[in-house]
Amino acid sequence: MTNQNKNTIKFYSGEEIPVELHKVRIVQKLFLKPIEERFEAIEKAGYNTFLLNTKDIFLDQLTDSGTNAMSDNQVSSMLQADDAYAGSQSFYRMEEAAREVFGKHYVLPVHQGRAAENIISQVFIKKGQVIPMNYHFTTTKEHMEINGGKVLEIYTDEALKIKSDVKFKGNIDIDKLKAVFEEYGREGVAFVRMEASTNLIGGQPFSMQNMRDVRALCDQYNTMMVLDASLIGENAYMIKEREEEFKNADIKDILNEMCGYAELVYFSSRKVSSTRGGGILTNSEDLYLKMRDLLVLFEGFLTYGGMSVREIEAMAVGLKETCDDTVISQSPSFIKYAVDNLDALGVPVITPAGALGCHIDAKGFLPHVPQKEYPAGALASALYLVSGIRGMERGTISSVRDENGDDILADVELLRLAFPRRVFTLSQTMFAVDRVKWLYDNRDLVGGLEWIQEPPLLRFFMGTLKPIGDWPQKLIAKFKKDFGESL
Ligand code: F0G
Repeated sequence: MTNQNKNTIKFYSGEEIPVELHKVRIVQKLFLKPIEERFEAIEKAGYNTFLLNTKDIFLDQLTDSGTNAMSDNQVSSMLQADDAYAGSQSFYRMEEAAREVFGKHYVLPVHQGRAAENIISQVFIKKGQVIPMNYHFTTTKEHMEINGGKVLEIYTDEALKIKSDVKFKGNIDIDKLKAVFEEYGREGVAFVRMEASTNLIGGQPFSMQNMRDVRALCDQYNTMMVLDASLIGENAYMIKEREEEFKNADIKDILNEMCGYAELVYFSSRKVSSTRGGGILTNSEDLYLKMRDLLVLFEGFLTYGGMSVREIEAMAVGLKETCDDTVISQSPSFIKYAVDNLDALGVPVITPAGALGCHIDAKGFLPHVPQKEYPAGALASALYLVSGIRGMERGTISSVRDENGDDILADVELLRLAFPRRVFTLSQTMFAVDRVKWLYDNRDLVGGLEWIQEPPLLRFFMGTLKPIGDWPQKLIAKFKKDFGESL
């Protein structure tokens, strides 16, 4: 049977519009509360969108992690789950799916992505070693550093440019990687890490050619490649869309080739397939045995790894669905719609549109807010206030302090509006675009933030802040004037 294979359809007007290739059969009611109540909620949350309660949120665009919609096949599979501490059939079904999709024999289940990072970092990093990568992810970096490693980001010169038409801003810079090997030698490099659809720089993919080039260098220096496959489906889709050689390729073949270059593949299942879980995969018995005992220590027995059997069943089906173009193109097509529209309205957003979410450049949006007053955090709070939309700060608040206690200013200050798969409609996306544009036109009213309580580790999750000055009140007054009401 042939089918339209992606979630955009050319309209009579010539415009490419995202059109859902699924129908909605279970819904959840949402509440758009008045701006005064939103003000109370963000005050209570310490101007940290992580601390909001979803009862106060209209569109929850914090993350796609654990929030993608499940398919009918996933939900029904959960009913046949086989409860057992050891030897559950649910695990073997998931193992078979993972082998098929990723082309790796050994499958170690973990409760989520960072649990995989914990095990990999403990086993494969020796104190003082460096780990070159396209870009870090927050939890990845912490695990590597706790184990004595040092993260080296060796992205290309284009990677951090906000506006660009470079198709693969997630590529590793091959010359810089060569220089790292020459400086640190084989023993000094723990492994090379490639992150699919590079999260913190705006969900930007790497190309297959880049993987091949990195692999060639890893072979030359006899070093392992580790692939973070949490967003591999979307990266594979963008390879198909943007890399000439793959325009007619099967997603399954692309996934297999990508995974084939890495000795270790790990993923957060919360992103790639379902609502919980994760895994580590390899074809090497030696590598498997090195990790196996830690898995039992930290996660649980080898056939559940901290997940419930229901979650494992949903993961098995979800992994197979990752090979379906209509599944993995859904989020990128909505992101592209939001990004292209905001870009046309003059709002600074990361281009080209990538995976995971629409990324707004807070430095460009709020040039009058200094980076040490956290423009991306301020923008996240301001957008919540004027729309009920919850985004995520991905800037200096998500960074750390140096030895002297000074903020390490983030390379990019981003407000991420995630598009979990198959969750939001086009009219909701249009609402988000509309309120971001209103805020952009009133950007001069938005000021910075300062800490009330700053935790030492991963402060962005739990820290509380307050506005510098009374800018939220001014924003509320202007909002009510323009819209004539509180919604
Ligand atoms: N690697 C990448 C690329 C991720 O995006 C994440 C999580 C992880 C690892 C860790 O996985 O959450 O299951 O432990 N990203 C989420 C996000 C939290 O919102 O971007 P986890």
